[in-house]
Amino acid sequence: MKRVNIGIFGLGTVGQGVLQSLRERGESLKARTGIDFHVKAVCDRSYKKKGTVLKNIHASDNPSIIHDDPEIDIVLELMGGIEPAKSHIVKSLLAGQSVVTANKALLAAHGEEIFKLAQDKFLHIGFEAAVAGALPVIKTLRRTLVINQIHGIYGILNGTCNFIITKMQNESMDYDEALKLAQDKGFAEADPSFDVNGNDAGQKLALLSGIAFDTFISEDSVQVEGIAEIRQMDLSIAESMGWIIRLLGIAKISDDGSCLLRVHPAMIPENHILAHVQDEKNAVLFDSSHSGPSLIMGNGAGSLPTAAAVISDLVSISKNTEPEIWMSSANSIKMVKDYRYRFYLRFQTRDKTGVLAEIAEILAKNDISITTVHQQEGEEPVDVVVTTHEAWESSIRNAIKTIDALPIILAPTVSIRIIDQL
Ligand code: HSE
Repeated sequence: MKRVNIGIFGLGTVGQGVLQSLRERGESLKARTGIDFHVKAVCDRSYKKKGTVLKNIHASDNPSIIHDDPEIDIVLELMGGIEPAKSHIVKSLLAGQSVVTANKALLAAHGEEIFKLAQDKFLHIGFEAAVAGALPVIKTLRRTLVINQIHGIYGILNGTCNFIITKMQNESMDYDEALKLAQDKGFAEADPSFDVNGNDAGQKLALLSGIAFDTFISEDSVQVEGIAEIRQMDLSIAESMGWIIRLLGIAKISDDGSCLLRVHPAMIPENHILAHVQDEKNAVLFDSSHSGPSLIMGNGAGSLPTAAAVISDLVSISKNTEPEIWMSSANSIKMVKDYRYRFYLRFQTRDKTGVLAEIAEILAKNDISITTVHQQEGEEPVDVVVTTHEAWESSIRNAIKTIDALPIILAPTVSIRIIDQL
């Protein structure tokens, strides 16, 4: 039976999930694949504290136990962060070892260099786990949909944010409580501000759209907004108007190569399929030339789901003789900087004569037309909510800047895009 020796950098949530999965399901994996996957070495800076999970496994905090072992065929980089993860990957590729990584931050920043090195060395680099946990989105793009031109990707790409929003909506949990629970369940990044600010979803969208549009797209190309400003009242006003809020990643490309890349909260129709994606679930909807729309939904975060994606790459790499070409052609794209959306705007104001008139005047001056206005009676500060017809993002930003400078405004204005049709 073929034996594949594995070295693992990093024994956090995902690394431990991989060890647990191989321990519990190793025999079945052997029977299904005809391959004996053997974890030969684990490098982790706090390996001494990891207890029984490392039973019978050679472990150290010294990377040379992996780098200097010529018998290791595949290296799993599961430590996260940029350095030393990047150096470990580069060193492994230079030493002739294929690599599997769950590190979207690294690939969204340095993927071009890493993919090129793997290609030059004719080695594999698997990163299914880096985008949407257990969802087979990379394999779907490169196998099932390979003949298609991808026109658009619409995704719920961050489990922590979806968990927070749905817990706030369905169980009236407050934001901090829901975030804490997401952290306790192992969904959030080590620094959860990367989740709630939209950066994690932005990195995943950059990677995914790069593969879909046949070019390298860096995370800097994605305009990102997060969910930290969303309150219960936004969710309930949205619901009363037939919308549900989700943090969406959107990538669209036109025939002329103009590419829209955005991560932001959006109000979408309550009957849209993405509105049904609950808790830490992720979903990715591909709009493609030949296959039409295809939806993949499932667990986008957590130890065992992400480990399952890592192991699926281990199997693909061990069975394939030809490495995947991730930088297939340098498609020339240009980023769309401004776009028209409907908006929901929440202003926190003094309760004073003329407030509404002042806001309306500034919106009108920026060519923004109002569709509805909501205000509930109550103590100062008062929340005034306005929805708009389609307007340019730049006009909305200008109007908010002017409005937020008014003495009647007591907190920064919150804006959420309304997308009636995805
Ligand atoms: N922190 C990520 C999320 C999981 O909440 O989706 C890993 O990508």
